[in-house]
Amino acid sequence: MIERERPRWSVRPMTLGDVDAVAAIERETFAMPWSYASFVRELTQNASTARYLVLDLDGEAVGYAGMWLVVDEGHVTNIAVRSDLRGMGGGKELMRALIGEAAANGLAYMALEVRRSNAAARGLYQKMGFVDAGVRKRYYEDNREDAMIMAREDLPKALGGGGIDAATM
Ligand SMILES: CC(C)(COP(=O)(O)OP(=O)(O)OC[C@H]1O[C@@H](n2cnc3c(N)ncnc32)[C@H](O)[C@@H]1OP(=O)(O)O)[C@@H](O)C(=O)NCCC(=O)NCCS
Repeated sequence: MIERERPRWSVRPMTLGDVDAVAAIERETFAMPWSYASFVRELTQNASTARYLVLDLDGEAVGYAGMWLVVDEGHVTNIAVRSDLRGMGGGKELMRALIGEAAANGLAYMALEVRRSNAAARGLYQKMGFVDAGVRKRYYEDNREDAMIMAREDLPKALGGGGIDAATM
């Protein structure tokens, strides 16, 4: 895939001030979107288990990714980039940061579910070192599509001081 010139964005933790923009991307993207209230709940009541990051472009959240820390698994809950900014490396930036977060938390592996037909997301996960690990038949309620389970076991080692060796991501 050819990337256009990369926007000057960065990845940072999601705050309550991002939720309007995040929920708007969620609504434009998913058949069964999470509500505004779900994101608020994740950031306030589930903060010890959940980690949410945003792709920040000039102070605005133009993408986001989340993960639950479940024992030694980092379970990716969602990832999306605003539709007009896809294909420019933002998904990779978010996944790289999420993998770093998982490593910094000492997790053993990461896993996620993705629709069988979602070539863009499956391509992104493969690029980030995830492999097919199973199928959940008729997992999605809206169209009964199968979910592919994908996982990455070899998380990079967190360096002293919480830094991550970017070369191993
Ligand atoms: C999946 C998603 C987050 C990827 O974000 P993105 O910013 O467009 O992705 P990137 O530009 O970083 O591309 C990363 C890799 O993903 C793959 N990819 C991205 N778009 C693709 C497409 N349309 N078709 C096939 N592969 C694609 C490629 O492997 C790409 O690597 P490359 O550019 O080196 O070839 C984005 O497409 C999106 O928001 N989709 C809708 C939400 C969604 O489906 N989320 C996943 C739910 S499980």
